[in-house]
Amino acid sequence: MLMLMPSASPAYLTWLASAWDGRGLVLILTGAGVSAESGIPTFRGEEGYWRIGSRNYFPEELATRAAFERMPDHIWGWYLYRRSVCRAAEPNTAHRAIAQLEQRLTAAGRAEQFLLVTQNVDGLHLRAGNSLERTYQIHGNIDYMRPFHDRDARIFPLPQALGETWERGQPIGAAERALLVAPSDGSPARPHVLWFDEAYDEERFRFESTLRAIERATLVIVVGTSGSTNLPTQVVTRAFRRGIPFVVINREPSPFSELAERAEHGHYIEAAAGETLPSLLDAVAAASDHERT
Ligand code: APR
Repeated sequence: MLMLMPSASPAYLTWLASAWDGRGLVLILTGAGVSAESGIPTFRGEEGYWRIGSRNYFPEELATRAAFERMPDHIWGWYLYRRSVCRAAEPNTAHRAIAQLEQRLTAAGRAEQFLLVTQNVDGLHLRAGNSLERTYQIHGNIDYMRPFHDRDARIFPLPQALGETWERGQPIGAAERALLVAPSDGSPARPHVLWFDEAYDEERFRFESTLRAIERATLVIVVGTSGSTNLPTQVVTRAFRRGIPFVVINREPSPFSELAERAEHGHYIEAAAGETLPSLLDAVAAASDHERT
């Protein structure tokens, strides 16, 4: 007779069961690695945008307010190209697993247990089904623009007339320049992203809300980020210092994985997001179900 033996649980499920009791806020923090399996290059990985550079500049020099002031057409062209890469991509298993967790918790009346904080501007979490309310896009969204002058924090979708495809290096012409203006006052618009020479704020990037959320978190799941930016670093170091259970999923070690390995309640999973998140988040949903029944 064929006996079906239960397969051994991966180490992270054992860790989760011992580290988290199913109650409280689950904060998921994502970076470019979560979209890598959708074919969007990361920034600092081997094929990363920052390593490749553009014709004459390194992208880290391009992603600044100062660069936009000097050469707005060039910067717009670079963002429109990156946006066309994002628009051609589809959400992957990892995005879908995160969206399903929010949907499961919401259906059970426990939406307040879920928060997603993403550095990604690609919009794939929203396209996978996460809600805008519970998705803090702390570096913006490449499908949107806002006035360059900064007196107005409103954001606007990029005009449909621009289309969705843009070749690398394709020049901006008068027609595009006329479209890339703020609908509110006709002033020149800029991509709705956070640049290297700018600071986080609440209105556009949910800075204080993110810091408040970490104070409430009882489980932090960090996925696919090299740990190179300020707010994510604050999130993870606070989790570490406060002894909040946190798990880091990454294909390679990072400052965050080192912290996870040093933490009493930390765990590092060296793997791809798409391989790991479905079973991990299934276990998170099951643990919170179990807690309420
Ligand atoms: N699964 C999990 N992790 C992955 C995967 C994958 N399939 N593929 C790559 N990674 C990891 C890489 O090992 C790397 O550590 O994802 C990480 C991506 O790091 P970065 O390219 O630095 O991206 P990110 O951390 O999101 O960058 C932060 O910096 O450039 C700015 O504003 C930009 O939002 C961006 C921010």
